[in-house]
Amino acid sequence: MTEWKTVVVETDLLICGGGMAACGAAVETAHWAKQRGLKVTLVDKAAVDRSGAVAMGLSAINLYVDLNGGKNTVRDYVDYVRNDLMGITREDLVANIARHVDSTVHMFEKWGLPIWKDEKGQYVHEGRWQVMISGESYKAIVAEAAKKALAEAGGEYFERVFLTHPLVVDGRCVGAIGFSVRENTIYVFKAKAVLTAMGGAVHVFKPRSTGEGIGRSWYPPFNSAGSAAFTITAGAEMTCQEVRFVPVRFKDGYGPVGAWFLLFKAIATNALGEDYMATNDAELDKWGPYGRAKPTPANLRNWLMMLDIQKGKGPIYMQTGDAINNISKAMPDEKSARKKLKELENEAWEDFLDMTIAQALLWAATNVEPDKKPSEIMACEPYFIGSHSGASGAWVSGPKDLQTAETESEYFWGYANMTTVPGLFAAGDASGASSHKFSSGSFTEGRIAGKSALAFIVDKGNGATVSDAQIAALAAEILQPLATFEKHRDDTTDPDINPSYLRPKQFMSRLQKVMDEYAGGVSTQLATSKAQLEKGLELLAFLREDASKLGAETLHELMRCWENRHRLLQAEAHMRSVLFRDETRWPGYYVRSDKPAMDQANWLAFCNTKYNRETGQWTMVKRPVKYLTSDSER
Ligand code: ADX
Repeated sequence: MTEWKTVVVETDLLICGGGMAACGAAVETAHWAKQRGLKVTLVDKAAVDRSGAVAMGLSAINLYVDLNGGKNTVRDYVDYVRNDLMGITREDLVANIARHVDSTVHMFEKWGLPIWKDEKGQYVHEGRWQVMISGESYKAIVAEAAKKALAEAGGEYFERVFLTHPLVVDGRCVGAIGFSVRENTIYVFKAKAVLTAMGGAVHVFKPRSTGEGIGRSWYPPFNSAGSAAFTITAGAEMTCQEVRFVPVRFKDGYGPVGAWFLLFKAIATNALGEDYMATNDAELDKWGPYGRAKPTPANLRNWLMMLDIQKGKGPIYMQTGDAINNISKAMPDEKSARKKLKELENEAWEDFLDMTIAQALLWAATNVEPDKKPSEIMACEPYFIGSHSGASGAWVSGPKDLQTAETESEYFWGYANMTTVPGLFAAGDASGASSHKFSSGSFTEGRIAGKSALAFIVDKGNGATVSDAQIAALAAEILQPLATFEKHRDDTTDPDINPSYLRPKQFMSRLQKVMDEYAGGVSTQLATSKAQLEKGLELLAFLREDASKLGAETLHELMRCWENRHRLLQAEAHMRSVLFRDETRWPGYYVRSDKPAMDQANWLAFCNTKYNRETGQWTMVKRPVKYLTSDSER
């Protein structure tokens, strides 16, 4: 094998990732670190300008509370989030983000992000919490600010460095190790505190788009369970690992539906033209008080749609024509109606072009004129995500000032957003049980977690030193796939078919097949059962054995190997959690067909899990759901 060198970087705070949460952490901590003479270092596997979930851009900021506008309170937002997750929410975490998020949005605007304004100069709202933006360059704008802040504070950022493992000594997280995906270099980052914000997990389940379309997914395919694997491996307690998010999107292009449902007030119907939300309304009574929450929780909206598909009433259509024609027809005369229609048509195309360009291409390729022809929508494959309507992630401490006498012993252990591993902080998709952060909330949570990590550094100082032996062992493990491929590549005439190794894409296909068929993917209409899960876990154990036989031909493939090892940890945490919760949780996200009903008596509990890296054992534990105020005070 060619020569490899090792670069050691010493820093005070290490930010793992370069997406919205990581950029929020960089901007905030640069300010405080400069005052304290501390160093902040950010590491991204890609290029910060176009990395993470916002890489392609967005057409809306989905979280803006507008506290100064006076129409909403933090309590309103917390209620909305709790209802959408059918009660399973850490209100302290949600409130902490909601009370700070408006200032984040104002910062974005100051940096040049175009936010739509009405004739009175007010933000144009898509819905109650969402504001419209022309956001194709959203991430580039935020990245520029983060990089500038780091530079001004004497910090550093590394791009194209893929982190594989946390460095943990005596139970404290003291850094991370990984490799460059451009040159033969192992990177060791030694830090006093580490903040992980490396995104959610895509391609754990088989996507609907297969073959040459496999990279087309709703969430970015390069979100490969980096955060979950990092915190799981470090030994952090994880929460809500049974929660997967299944968004409804325009079929095949995965275009967003929010603007259609909220801004244009469109209705989705089955193939018979029936509004499934109306015809299946009685079903909502089966799901406790949450079935009647307003708006209907996202998973139940999915569920009512899926019921119609199961009854043979699909495909499902977004009635785009009715929506925009209704708005334009309400104009006072024909000329302004025509003008309005053109305007709406432009907005509809911009909605896709800002954030899901492939959907605009698909519309163009299939001659869709949205005012004339409805477009098919469907429930996507499952994703793991702590920032949108999912909730999976690390179990983190809440802020002290929002705890009550009842919550403090459960939800607070010293530093906001610190995981149960001292020195390891999480934000964005990496932290769990606080859904609906979206882009602005993830950035905000990065700010919160970053500031808190600096407080930890000031209080605790240096951690233990990582030994050279620990680094050497990890480096050898990281590079093993290159050595395996090199050793056996000439054993066969086709490098894809070899008895001594498997390539990362083959490994991923096996993982996705297990998840799809045994853990409730799209091919089983999101349904699974105890026996299915047990069989699936048996198959995952074989896959885990084969992980040591992964082979990589190039640096890029080496990254793919580690991405898939990370996905495997997310997959296992998920299956074990769905098995542990002996009931259907969030129908529309998944159904346990052997336990199809809601277990009302045991519903309100967090399902947490912990992995022991030495023994490979997982432990499951329930934690209480405690709200900030009692129901009577609400
Ligand atoms: S996006 O991330 O692609 O922009 P999406 O299209 O799901 O999101 O919707 C944007 C926002 O609108 C999210 O906050 C989502 O929860 C909300 N939303 C979408 N559809 C509905 C609906 N039918 N009712 C209520 N809220 C909705």
